Amino acid sequence: MTNTTNHELTLVLNGTGKTGRRVAERLTGRGVPVRVGSRSADIPFDWTDQTTWPAALDGVRAVYLAYAPDLAVPGAPEDVAAFCKAAVDAGVRRMVVLSGRGEKEAQDCEDIVRASGVEWTVVRAAWFFQNFNESDFAAYVSAGHLALPVGEVPEPFVDADDIADVAVAALTEDGHTGEIYELTGPRSLTFAEAMGEISELTGRQVAYSTMHPDEFAVALAEDGVPDEVIGLLTYLFTTLFDGRNATPSDGVRKALGREPRDFRDFIREAAATGAWTL
Ligand SMILES: NC(=O)c1ccc[n+]([C@@H]2O[C@H](COP(=O)([O-])OP(=O)(O)OC[C@H]3O[C@@H](n4cnc5c(N)ncnc54)[C@H](OP(=O)(O)O)[C@@H]3O)[C@@H](O)[C@H]2O)c1
Repeated sequence: MTNTTNHELTLVLNGTGKTGRRVAERLTGRGVPVRVGSRSADIPFDWTDQTTWPAALDGVRAVYLAYAPDLAVPGAPEDVAAFCKAAVDAGVRRMVVLSGRGEKEAQDCEDIVRASGVEWTVVRAAWFFQNFNESDFAAYVSAGHLALPVGEVPEPFVDADDIADVAVAALTEDGHTGEIYELTGPRSLTFAEAMGEISELTGRQVAYSTMHPDEFAVALAEDGVPDEVIGLLTYLFTTLFDGRNATPSDGVRKALGREPRDFRDFIREAAATGAWTL
């Protein structure tokens, strides 16, 4: 596929996070000028402060639109609509939006991007592998016991590197405009099975247990997690893990012509680079 936008400034939102950091690294590696968009960036971008948006959008022609904390929070559609308008007014022509599989609220936000007049691609992702080693859950895995309000429901966990590869292809190549890519890994695993594979491949036992949502909320509060994050996580776990997302999809193959990375390969690499050591 040919590059169409590779000399144009690209704003990468959540640019220090699990997917955005990888998108920014890949674009930079391809010689694409990148502006990281996050509160801690050189030119700060804050979803909660629209006065930060014009400077972040100045000169930008393409955007990796990842929302924080999650497209399911109240106010996200209004923020995304206002951002799309500001982006189009600033001259943005292409957007790749990170969305969540099976999330009605996220799909409402996708629709706002799709109606904005830009060339759009949706990457609708499953639960990331990297939640196990790059998010707050990593501490529980390292400590040997993960407990969530999710039972024996399989999830086709996906690699953030695969998400970034798809996003970068969509930002820099022809042929992805108007596509909705459902990005999953190749296999569905329950959380218990996922912890079993981490135990097997690292030699460190990691147990999994299912918690009642109320117990989960209490445990997070005891760990100092803010109330709004507790509410969001409890909502996501108790709605999305009902089996609706259990089947793997072919989005990585459709977008890139190759298979997604397997969870076992991720575990080996994460362990080799020091994950899950206390
Ligand atoms: N994690 C998953 O499994 C998963 C699956 C599907 C979809 N998603 C979607 O991915 C997005 C977030 O992913 P994540 O939870 O994995 O987090 P993340 O991208 O790893 O980290 C959050 C990022 O957002 C930035 N950020 C936080 N608050 C911000 C604000 N008010 N304004 C601007 N930037 C802000 C942070 O940088 P600063 O601290 O510098 O601001 C950081 O770069 C959500 O939209 C979620 O729906 C996640």
